[in-house]
Amino acid sequence: MIAIGGDHAGYPLKEEIRAYLDANNIEYTDVGCYSPERFDYAISAQKACDKVVSGECDKAILICGTGVGISMAANKVKGIRACCCTDYFSAKYTRLHNDANVLCMGARVIGAGSALELVDVFLNTEFEGGRHQTRIDQITAIENGEKLY
Ligand code: RB5
Repeated sequence: MIAIGGDHAGYPLKEEIRAYLDANNIEYTDVGCYSPERFDYAISAQKACDKVVSGECDKAILICGTGVGISMAANKVKGIRACCCTDYFSAKYTRLHNDANVLCMGARVIGAGSALELVDVFLNTEFEGGRHQTRIDQITAIENGEKLY
């Protein structure tokens, strides 16, 4: 199960991504917003990320105007590793190396064609583990207030 959400600026792209998920029989839950009316991105970021942390969803896709604000909000949720991506390589490697559980994109930055390619590679790439797990553990340690140095 995938959580999807965003703000008013991300709404049109969110609808395109929903259509893609429907067409590919990928189950999702849409945490909003549900119209192009003004809606603050931190709310949908927290809603979607809470579903990932609880285990209700495996991953989340979040969209705002730039992808930046919503990724900042997402990364404040403990256990979330959100990546704001505009290119295929980053979307792929944030899974391979960073075990990212949230993909953020900017509807004012990329078009639907690119966004759907990022969604596809993000959802279909497994974490490599190994030496990268050590680094994920270090990120978690920072999150837990531990010093790495
Ligand atoms: C909304 O106008 C815009 O600020 C928001 O979608 C996002 O781009 C923030 O990072």
